[in-house]
Amino acid sequence: ITIDDIKEDGKLIMATNAEFPPYEYHEGSEITGFDVEMAQAIADEIGVPLQIEDMAFDSVVASVQSGKAHIAAAGLTVDEKRKKSIDFSDPYTTATQVIIVKEGSEITDVAGLVGKKIGTQIGTTGATYAEDIEDATVERYNKGADAVLDLINGKVDAVVIDDQPAKKFVEKNEGIVVLDEALTVEDYAIGIPKNSPELVELVNKVISDMKADGRYDALIAKYIDN
Ligand code: ARG
Repeated sequence: ITIDDIKEDGKLIMATNAEFPPYEYHEGSEITGFDVEMAQAIADEIGVPLQIEDMAFDSVVASVQSGKAHIAAAGLTVDEKRKKSIDFSDPYTTATQVIIVKEGSEITDVAGLVGKKIGTQIGTTGATYAEDIEDATVERYNKGADAVLDLINGKVDAVVIDDQPAKKFVEKNEGIVVLDEALTVEDYAIGIPKNSPELVELVNKVISDMKADGRYDALIAKYIDN
């Protein structure tokens, strides 16, 4: 797609799954977060309003691939498999996969996940990671928060999810902790339909402008826990 296509559509359509604080989440009737503000800056640069399409995470890439959405802003990890269906902007941040367990769990590191029940969000890199753990049973949830609820209820032994959402879920719930070990290091980038070089260039420009003029640091300070 071209910038003119987006202008003709009269809005920038962003595919996301708003179950992923602090990047995208519901606040009352609004969807907000780090990615939402970044997408708003992209829409501003083009000069159109932002329209957020909230969907299951495992539909986000397909929605951009089919052109139903102009961009994906979803804490979306750059990976080789996804690169076959969509393009990516430059990375705008890095993340890790981490393990959440109940306080006092016998699981203290990744080796402890062998043979365990692991909760994950459907379609995520965390789910893919968990599938490779020996003898583990992987439970897939529509929302990371539901995986966390099942951890609290004792239906799974651990949750594997991205580090920042993990911190938010642990802040919100008593009796669970994030283990220190990082299982992966991943880049987040904006997903863009293939054959859209102008849009890739514009998104990369917005990211570098935001980093240069302080807007990026302001978003980090507002949303990200260190
Ligand atoms: N970073 C992980 C991935 O790309 C999880 C992203 C989940 N994002 C979301 N908005 N629910 O697979």
